[in-house]
Formats: sequence, C-alpha cells, structure tokens
Amino acid sequence: MLFGIDGLRLLRCPVNFYGHFIENFKIRTLKPEEYYFQQEPYYESVSDEIAIFEAAYRNQLPVLLKGPTGCGKTRFMEHMSWRLKRPLVTVSCHDDLTASDLVGRFLVKNGESVWVDGPLAAAVRAGGICYLDEVVEARKDTTVVIHPLADDRRVLLMEKVGELLEATPEFCLAISFNPGYQSILKDLKQSTRQRFVYAQHGYELMR
Ligand SMILES: Nc1ncnc2c1ncn2[C@@H]1O[C@H](COP(=O)(O)OP(=O)(O)OP(=O)(O)O)[C@@H](O)[C@H]1O
Ligand SMILES: [Mg+2]
Repeated sequence: MLFGIDGLRLLRCPVNFYGHFIENFKIRTLKPEEYYFQQEPYYESVSDEIAIFEAAYRNQLPVLLKGPTGCGKTRFMEHMSWRLKRPLVTVSCHDDLTASDLVGRFLVKNGESVWVDGPLAAAVRAGGICYLDEVVEARKDTTVVIHPLADDRRVLLMEKVGELLEATPEFCLAISFNPGYQSILKDLKQSTRQRFVYAQHGYELMR
C-alpha cells in the first residue's frame, strides 16, 4: 500500500484515510484533532465554490457536493480543511455501513467494555469537518443519524450511551454524491437532501 495511490497520498499528506501517520515507516493512530493538512492541497477553483463553502461554514450549514468521478470533490474537501484550519475526517460510505460505524460502539478491551467513538462522533468532538463520501451507498437507516446534525439542532444522538453530543460552531458536515451511480434505488432521501446546501458539477450553487 505504501507505493500505491494511497501511498502517494501518504507522502503528500500527514495522515492517510485510516488516521495513521507514517513516520520512519512506523504507524501510529492519530486522534481526529491531529488530522490537519500541513501544506496546501493544490486545488484550482472552478467557480465560486470556495466562497460558497466558506459562507455555508460560517452559517453552520452542511454542504452536499454533487459531481462525476474525478471532478475534484475529495481534493476540494482537503483544500477546504486546510483553508479553514479544521481537521478533516473522511468516511467512504458503503452498503454495509451501519449507524454504529459512524457513531461508535462498545468494544471489549482488556476484559472491559469501553466506548469507542465512531468517525462522525470523533469529528463532532474535535470540531472538525466530517466528509461522508458517496453517501448514497450507505443504508437509508444509517443516513438518518445525520439528520439532527444537519439541521438547526446540530446534535448527534448517541443512543447506546444515552448522550446527546452538541456540535460546536467549528464542526461542519459535508457529503458527496456521484450522479453517475444514480438510480431509483440509490438516491438520497428527500429529507436528507433538503437539509444541505446543494452544489452540482463545477460546484455551481443550485440551492
Ligand atoms: N479543481 C481541481 N484542482 C486541482 N486538482 C484537481 C481538481 N479537480 C480534479 N483534480 C485532480 O483530479 C484528481 C481526482 O480528483 P478527486 O479525487 O478529488 O475526484 P472526486 O470528485 O473525489 O472523484 P470520486 O467521485 O471518484 O471520488 C485529484 O487527485 C486531482 O489531482
Ligand atoms: Mg472522491
């Protein structure tokens, strides 16, 4: 993996997408607040997408990026993470992704049951940017956990620990959506879609 595409990213970025930092070929696990880009990820602005994202961020609005593969959605998020100086937590969604994968779960460690935050809860606690890549791939019952975070409540319900996690103004939620994969079966729920500032190809704001 070191010499694959992810390897190239690793050499360019301080962390890979699993939250690991490679230092003299030793891997250690990072906390989300360490997921910063030290150097500017190169991003060539296409339209006024940077200003739109910054305005959404200032107003604590979540953002939906819609565009075909390779149009720069991931690079744009890396660039905005660097620009806003917030850590970026990326989750690649798939059809087995459960709410617990996002929020967290109890794990047994040294004979004891301990709570471990999932990437979404960790990003909320760290006041970072949580980027849910290819969100239509996730099960619909999974995507509803982001609903209270994506509207004016800005809270994450952690049912298993009976905790309501309130997002600070620094937290930002962004999701992406590739229209190439779009089918009747794989579309965003209307109730999910309507919560987001919507950006299509080239990130022109459509509302
Ligand atoms: N506006 C841009 N500025 C700079 N580089 C770009 C831009 N758009 C695309 N690229 C280049 O194209 C590559 C692919 O872009 P990226 O991975 O961000 O696409 P994507 O929209 O996330 O695709 P996918 O939907 O397949 O995940 C980037 O690694 C980058 O080299
Ligand atoms: Mg991508």
